[in-house]
Amino acid sequence: MEFFIDTADLEQIKIAHSMGILDGVTTNPSLMSTIGIKGKKQIMKHYLDICSIVDGPVSAEVLSTDYKGMVSEGEELNDLHRNIIVKLPMTQDGVKAIRHLSNMGIRTNCTLVFSVGQALVAAKAGATYVSPFVGRLDDVSSDGLSLIKEIKQVYLNYDKCQLDTKILAASIRNQMHIINCAKIGADVITAPLNVLQSLINHPLTDIGMNKFIEDTKKFI
Ligand code: E4P
Repeated sequence: MEFFIDTADLEQIKIAHSMGILDGVTTNPSLMSTIGIKGKKQIMKHYLDICSIVDGPVSAEVLSTDYKGMVSEGEELNDLHRNIIVKLPMTQDGVKAIRHLSNMGIRTNCTLVFSVGQALVAAKAGATYVSPFVGRLDDVSSDGLSLIKEIKQVYLNYDKCQLDTKILAASIRNQMHIINCAKIGADVITAPLNVLQSLINHPLTDIGMNKFIEDTKKFI
């Protein structure tokens, strides 16, 4: 399973990268606005900054909502750096743009996916990644992990010549989401830094470490 960090914050990306377990990065317009990025020039530079930290897939979302705009932005983002994955929404124009970009050999991530039908369409359109939002489904009392399980089941029914899309479980809110996605066999999870870090922590590890430190003092 690959680990992506879901942030546009360069310091957090650096911390996650220094842990040695980071495979890629996902961003979205909300995450970009949180860190105060403004204007096309800054946006493009920011993606290059992210790519200079992590040598792996970096999802950069198109801001246009119409087919033509998405395609031209997608081409521009793809030209920016070899690690950029063009992120597009699950809308009719988005699907059309994914098909077009995919025909050109450009890698895409279909975002805002909340149903198996949408995941099937994303795969049919040739998306490299599909991003089902686990946490946002849980937020509305639906079951985000069941969606991951069902998408996995559907994709497994077909060989890679027919459907070749990776499941990128998004909107991950806690370590149980990650563990359950791993049990299901999601290809990738994308999570905030604190959730990735929470995988490392265990109270018994802390107690054990403190005891080792105390006992070390007795013979050093
Ligand atoms: C996916 O790529 C999105 O950026 C993200 O995972 C959404 O997460 P949220 O529901 O916590 O905003």
